[in-house]
Amino acid sequence: MRYLLKLTLLLIITSGFFVKQTVAVDLQAGKEKAEGVCAGCHGKDGVTAILPSYPILAGQHEDYLSQALYDYKTGARKNAVMTGIASTLTKEDIINISAYFATMPSPLHLKIRE
Ligand code: HEC
Repeated sequence: MRYLLKLTLLLIITSGFFVKQTVAVDLQAGKEKAEGVCAGCHGKDGVTAILPSYPILAGQHEDYLSQALYDYKTGARKNAVMTGIASTLTKEDIINISAYFATMPSPLHLKIRE
């Protein structure tokens, strides 16, 4: 019984933590950072990059973008260009930029379903 109570309390406390994380997203800050830093290569729309081999960010899953940026930052994913860029981003930047790009209109969907 005590164990159950402790577990319930722990769940309540940690779920509050995750809710706070979600509320903290600042799309406007993400937009400013994206247009100021990322647009030069990935395009202002997150689709029209300066080279066709550069990935589309618009409409990509938020988690995927955040994970990629953390991985560049920690060195788990290596790329000469992105490692330098990700190293300048804070945790808040990564959350905001990822949320922003995830909301952008995107060609990243299956066209055969249309
Ligand atoms: C100087 C050019 C340049 C700039 C500026 C730049 N990127 Fe990139 N980005 C790249 C290249 C090149 C790749 C592909 C790297 C690879 O293959 O891992 C990439 C890959 C990525 C990926 C991985 C996408 C995937 O599909 O796996 C993410 C996420 C990303 N960039 C986010 C950003 C964000 C956010 C910014 C701005 C803070 C930014 N990039 C700025 C060139 C750039």
